[in-house]
Amino acid sequence: MKKILVTGGLGYIGSHTVVELQSAGYDVVVIDNLDNSTEEVKERIVSISGRSIDLVIGDVNDQTIMNRIFKEYDFYGVVHFAAYKAVGESVDNPIKYYENNVSGLITLLGAMERHGVQNLIFSSSCTVYGIAEDLPVTEDTPIKSAESPYGTTKIIGEEIIQDYAKHKNIKTILLRYFNPVGAHPSAQIGELPNGVPSNLVPYITQTAAGIREQLVIHGNDYNTSDGTCIRDYIHVVDLAKAHVKAMTFADKMTSSVDIFNVGTGDGSTVLEVVQAFEERCNMRLNYRIGPRRDGDVEQIFADTQKINDVLQWQTEYDLHDMMYHAWMWQKSISRK
Ligand code: NAD
Ligand code: UFG
Repeated sequence: MKKILVTGGLGYIGSHTVVELQSAGYDVVVIDNLDNSTEEVKERIVSISGRSIDLVIGDVNDQTIMNRIFKEYDFYGVVHFAAYKAVGESVDNPIKYYENNVSGLITLLGAMERHGVQNLIFSSSCTVYGIAEDLPVTEDTPIKSAESPYGTTKIIGEEIIQDYAKHKNIKTILLRYFNPVGAHPSAQIGELPNGVPSNLVPYITQTAAGIREQLVIHGNDYNTSDGTCIRDYIHVVDLAKAHVKAMTFADKMTSSVDIFNVGTGDGSTVLEVVQAFEERCNMRLNYRIGPRRDGDVEQIFADTQKINDVLQWQTEYDLHDMMYHAWMWQKSISRK
C-alpha cells in the first residue's frame, strides 16, 4: 500500500482528505502540531474510515522530527496542508505567517529531497488571483500581488515550488482552492473556527445555533445580481477527493509542476448562500446588511475545465448540501 504523509492532517481540509485517501486505499501518516486542531479528530477519522492512522504530534518546521519520520516511513507522496490561514491575523503578525507557511514548506522540501520523495500536493488558494480582470479565472489568469501576508505566503510557496522544480526532481501539484465549506456528511468532522468566525458559512451556522446574534452581510452595493459579493463555494468532501485524484495523477505527470483550480465553476452571492441555508435547513436566519469589508474582492469563481478534463474530477455536492452538512456539523459540536 502506498504511504502518504499528510501535514496538518487533523485540520479542516486535511481531516477530510485523510478519510478520502484511506478510502482510496492509501496508508496515511499525519503530522500535526495541534495548533488549530485537537487529537480527538484522529479518533473521528478512524471512526469514519475504519482504518488506523499513524499520528505524529509535531511541527513541520522541526527538522529533527521531519528527518525521523521520513527515515521511518517510505513515503510515496506528501499532501502539505500545515499552515496558518487567518487573513486578519496575518496582517497583524506577518512574521508568524512567513515563518510557519514559508519555512514549513522549505523544511518539508528539504526532507523530501534528502529522502528521495518526489510527489507533493500543495494547498494554494484563489487568493493568488486577487481582483481578476476576466471571469471565470483559469489557471493561466495572471497572479496579482496579494492583499494580505497570508496571501503572500501562498504566492511565495507556489514560486518556491516552481523554482525548485526547475532544478530538482519533484512532481508537484498546486491546488488553488476556491471557498471550501460544509462538512463530512457523517457530521463527525468539520471546521473548528477559532473565536468569532470571519468566514461566511461558520458565521451563518453559529448565528442559526444562537452563538452569534446576527449575521452582517458585508455590503450590497457591488456590481452583482443582488449587490452582494460572489464566491465559488466548494464542498470540503469534493475538495478532499480532488487531492486523491491529484495523487493518482502524479505518476502520469509529464511536467514537474501542474496547477489546478478547485471550485465548482459556479459563483453564488452572499444572499444566495443565506437563501440556500434557509431553504435546506428550513429555518430563518437573522441577518442585516452592513458596510463593505475592507479587502473583499467583488467576485471570483473558477474555470474548472482543466481539473474536470485532466484529473477526471467532478463535484458531487451542491450549495444546498454544503449548507445542510455545515449545519449538521454545527449541531453536533453545539451539543457538546
Ligand atoms: P486548518 O487550520 O483547519 O488546518 C491546518 C492544520 O495544520 C491544523 O490542524 C494545524 O494544527 C496544523 N498546523 C499548522 N501549522 C503547523 C505546523 N507548523 N506543523 C504541523 N502542523 C501544523 O486549515 P484548513 O482550512 O484545513 O487549511 C489547510 C490548508 O489549505 C492551509 O494551507 C490553508 O492555507 C489552505 N487553504 C485553506 C482555505 C480555506 O478557506 N480553509 C482556502 C485556501 C487554501
Ligand atoms: N461575508 C459576510 N459576512 C460575514 C462573513 C463573510 O457578508 O460575516 C461575505 C464576505 O464579505 C465575502 C463572502 O461572504 O463576500 C465570503 O467571505 P469569506 O470570509 O467566507 O471568504 P473570502 O472569500 O473572503 O476568503 C476566503 C478564505 C481566505 C482566502 C480567500 C481567497 O477565507 O483564506 O477566500 O482565497 F484568502
